[in-house]
This record gives sequence, structure tokens and C-alpha cells, in this order.
Amino acid sequence: MRSRPGPRLVKVRPLFPESFFVFDMNKASLAAQFEKVFGRSPEFVTRAPGRIEFIGNHTDYNGGTVLGASIDRGVAVALARRTDGQRNFHSRYSGKTVTLPVGAPAKQSGDASWTNYPLGVLAALPHFGLKTPEGFDYLAESDLPAGAGLSSSAAIELASALAFLGATGQSPDRETVVKVGKHAENHFVGVPCGILDQGVSGFGKSGRLVFIDCAGPRFDTVPMPAGASFWIFNTHTKHALVDGLYAARHRECMSAAQALGVKLLVEVSPEKLRASEAGLDPVAFKRARHVVEEIARVDACVKALQSGDLAAVGKLLTASHRSSQHLFENSTPELDFLVDTLVAAPGVFGSRLTGGGFGGAVMALAGPSFDAAQAEKVAQAYAAKYGARPDVLPMNVGEGAAVL
Ligand code: GLA
Repeated sequence: MRSRPGPRLVKVRPLFPESFFVFDMNKASLAAQFEKVFGRSPEFVTRAPGRIEFIGNHTDYNGGTVLGASIDRGVAVALARRTDGQRNFHSRYSGKTVTLPVGAPAKQSGDASWTNYPLGVLAALPHFGLKTPEGFDYLAESDLPAGAGLSSSAAIELASALAFLGATGQSPDRETVVKVGKHAENHFVGVPCGILDQGVSGFGKSGRLVFIDCAGPRFDTVPMPAGASFWIFNTHTKHALVDGLYAARHRECMSAAQALGVKLLVEVSPEKLRASEAGLDPVAFKRARHVVEEIARVDACVKALQSGDLAAVGKLLTASHRSSQHLFENSTPELDFLVDTLVAAPGVFGSRLTGGGFGGAVMALAGPSFDAAQAEKVAQAYAAKYGARPDVLPMNVGEGAAVL
């Protein structure tokens, strides 16, 4: 195997860094907070969850399938209209208000960079034939664990979209709201992501996983078998070049597809890929193999979930991680260590990195015999090796984006 350069890890700067378990996200407390900041009541309060990528790593923008879970934590937005042409954005984390005039503002930077998510949504709405509100007061807050790769960006995009749609009396279907969020991320924020994060945040259902056939896209849900729980282990590390590396993998996949004579890698069967290996650049082959086999794993996983075979589901999850580790090369030694330790722990069905990779968090699917004490042992083993404790976060599957 080709050796890869050692990862340069930096401290993560998430959207709402100190928000874990700090804020009370119910409607009344959000309204009270809004009142404190803006001196009046909000007209609309919305909420959208973060997500766990269950399986289907980097399959979405390749037109493949993916399974995700919406969690019971997310971003809430409160909004009231103004008539003076002023747009005020307040984040409870920063404690500051960013004031912008109605219009098409440029991308913001520094302390105001979090506003690029709602601004991206405002810029996206007209592309779907939807109106944007004029002036408003806007407040966002989050109870998502910090920097765990649980997609606070999709959550703020969808919560913002629902608030802006409420303020303009529009109610497009859920798929359109999801696409508005993705458009904001692709064209304003500038990340060439697929539809996984926004799709899961938009279509989440308690007790179920969201299945997305990204080529359509087509959204569905699959019940989570009883007796399984999710755990997230957040390393708080991220490769310094994470956005660039994500975009690089995107490019590598597109050029592998081109070399294989298709538009997207979903069109390549595992057999066709094997037959084409000799003619492909070795790196392109590895990236394509990850994607093609991962799509097959998602389909196998849906079947295993439907028959309640959690052991088979777990094996597929761990196989997905191994593929990330060796073929897509979007893992890190820290994530590999956690996966190795978790799969050796009693009661763990499987474990893998979740999300884009290059740092962040791993998830584990476990049965009842894996409890907080077992999780603590894993955290301690990690701390002994890397000198810092990962956050251990038991996760519940919650409902998708909604107006509260
Ligand atoms: C990030 C992106 C998603 C998806 C995953 C990898 O979370 O936002 O669209 O590509 O990475 O599967």
C-alpha cells in the first residue's frame, strides 16, 4: 500500500463550539432568548437535527445510495419580520448580532462567517422559484455536540429555510427544502457535498434510518431493529486541509468516472470496475472501488436491517471503515484506533468513521451489553495513546426538520 503523509491535525472550529448540552432548545426558551436579544417575540420557531452517516461514505455525490440517522439534537432558529430593510442575525454562541441590509450580501468571514449558512439559503430560494423575506430579526442556537461531524451546517440550513419560508407564507414540499439547503452549501458556502446531510435532516424519523437514492433523489426510511444503540466518539481532531481534501476526493471520483466512460461512479458495476483495473490510474481505481463497493454495502445493509440481522449490519459498517482506511484514504490513525478498539469491545456490532472523514468522529452500533462503563474503557484507551479524551456521546434517533 502507498504510504500517505502524516496527518496534520488542528483543533476544530465548529459552527457553535461551546454548545454541547448548554442550551435548552424548547420553543419557550428560544422565544425567551429572542425576546432578550430583540425585545419582542419571534413569529416563527423552527428546528432541524444533525445526522449520523450510518453507511454510504462519499456515495452521495457519486449518485449512489446512503443510509443516515437524524439525531435528537440540532439547530433551532427563531425569526420575526422587520419592515425597515434590515436583517439582524444573532447566534447565541457568539453573543453578537450581525446586521446586513436586504440584498445579496457577499460571503462573510471571521466572526460573521456562521451567517453564510442562512445567507446561502436566502441566495438559494429564488433558484427554486421561492420568495425571500425582506428584513427580519433572526436568532440561531444549537445543542449539537461540538465538531463531531454531525452536520450542524445542514441543520442550520434547514432550520433557516423553514423560518424564511414561514415568514413568506410558502410551504414547498420537503424535498425542495432539502435541495435549498444543499444549494446553499454547494453554491454559497462552497462545499461540493452531496445530499446526505440535508436529506437526513429533512426526512429524519424517530426510530428509523433515512435511505436516500441520491440519483433521483428518492427518500425512504428503514426501521432500526430493536436492541441497537448508537454511540459517537468524537476525537476533536481534524486534518488542517479538510475542506480541500473533501473537494480533492470529489474531483478524483469525477475523473475516475470519466476514465471509466460514465457520468457518475454509480453507473459502474463491481465487475466492470474489476475488468477496467489495468487501464486505470491506481489511485483512481482505489477511489472508485471504495465508492462502487460502498454502494453495494448500503444495499446489503438495507436487507440486513430489514431482516433484523444486527451482526451482519455491524460487519458491513466495519467493512466500510476498512475501505475508507485503505482505499478512499479519508481516515486518520486516531479514527482507526477507535474503530479497532471498539470492534474488539463486547457488545459492539460494528464501527466506522462517520461523515467526510480526515478526522472528526467514529460511530459504533452496539447492543445492550455495551454500556457507559464499556464506552469509558474505550475512551481511556484512546486517552492513554493520544493524550486527550474523546467525547463519548450516546445518540438517540430523533425527528426531522420541523416548524415548532
Ligand atoms: C460530508 C458531506 C456529505 C457526504 C459525506 C461523506 O458529510 O457533507 O454530502 O459526502 O461527507 O459521505
